[in-house]
Amino acid sequence: QAFRRLYYDLDPDAQAKAIEAAMSQALAVARPVLTAHCEVAQRLGERLGLSDEIRRNLGQIYERWDGKGLPRGLSGEDVLPAVRLITLAQDVIALSDAVGIEAMAEIVANRGDGPYEAGLARLVSANAAVLMEGIGATVDRETILALEPDPPVMLDEAACEEAFLAIADMIDMRMPFTQGHSRMVADLAEGAGARAGLPAPDLRALRWSGFIHDIGELVVPVATWMRNGPLSVRERDAAQLHAYYGERALTSFGRDGDAMAGMVLRHHERLDGSGYHRKVGGSDLSPAARILAAAEAFQTSREERPHRKALSSEAAAAQLRAAVREGCICPEAAEAVLSFAGQPSRRALPRALAGMTPREIEVLRLIAAGFTAKEAARKLDISPKTADHHIESVYSKVGVTTRAAAALYAVEHGLVRPGETRA
Ligand SMILES: [Fe+2]
Ligand SMILES: [Fe+2]
Repeated sequence: QAFRRLYYDLDPDAQAKAIEAAMSQALAVARPVLTAHCEVAQRLGERLGLSDEIRRNLGQIYERWDGKGLPRGLSGEDVLPAVRLITLAQDVIALSDAVGIEAMAEIVANRGDGPYEAGLARLVSANAAVLMEGIGATVDRETILALEPDPPVMLDEAACEEAFLAIADMIDMRMPFTQGHSRMVADLAEGAGARAGLPAPDLRALRWSGFIHDIGELVVPVATWMRNGPLSVRERDAAQLHAYYGERALTSFGRDGDAMAGMVLRHHERLDGSGYHRKVGGSDLSPAARILAAAEAFQTSREERPHRKALSSEAAAAQLRAAVREGCICPEAAEAVLSFAGQPSRRALPRALAGMTPREIEVLRLIAAGFTAKEAARKLDISPKTADHHIESVYSKVGVTTRAAAALYAVEHGLVRPGETRA
């Protein structure tokens, strides 16, 4: 079925020949690829902090009971128990999809002591209907977390950083031309955010969003990204939805992922609504989201793509400024990115958001969310007097005299994040 999709544009005769040729070469092609899968999965597992046991399993994930697996041709008891189960489960799903549950049960029973351990094969085929019940239903976050053995593993800040970086590298290594893309976007976005005077929590969210902004690309076939020519409407739609899939992936992080999810969802949106996939405009784009979009656009044009060469940093800067003139990219965000990237700027970099300092932005955010000055002071670990001082300064910079007007300013400028209100 995969080969049929690959050769979809051939006439039936040519398609049959191409599929036959591909099948005859499949093992030779698969051996180095699957060996690489195992090696890379083990390394990424290490960086994500997975246990030794899980990493050993990952190294064997294509082995089979009868010794005909890859990469080492292990057999029988040498294949780890979890691997025996997972490889069988994988085939059970594929076979059920292809031929239905009953026929799957028969095939699995016949393959006992072949690819599958006989006892497991018998167990599965005798209980096929029960085992397949509810397969394919969405499993929510709570259910998954409840399955975690005690004590649950928590990642601290440094481990999160390393885990996001590992995911970034995993996303980027699918295509030769995106190697290092997400790392660069993260660096640019965080650096530009600092130049624009955004507060520390925004900088962290920018950095981590940069790492994983393209995680939704994993849903889209590599062949689509590699195509050197116009995409079909269906392919283009699927490719553009990677921003949406990225947001979906991040919602499984719970509330901690909200700020990142919001930015990942919008990383291809444009001020004038000409981006994708929701085609929202500037009023829906926070300063941080604008910076991520500008950093992404700048970095992407410095990389090669199948249909074009990489631009020099200078040419990429000119292109970004052209996008600013067309009203697509936020001028402040673009200048912050370019100045961080060492591109000479024609104008002094304006401080974002009415010249407020990062601390003042944090204070405004809390005030807008309904916290009193005292509470805001406690949250930020500063004295109430200092908080009052910040508030006064915020009011004068924003040009308001009341909390309500300041709160409106915060909402209008994307400073109030979901889940941050007091109520
Ligand atoms: Fe990207
Ligand atoms: Fe993207």
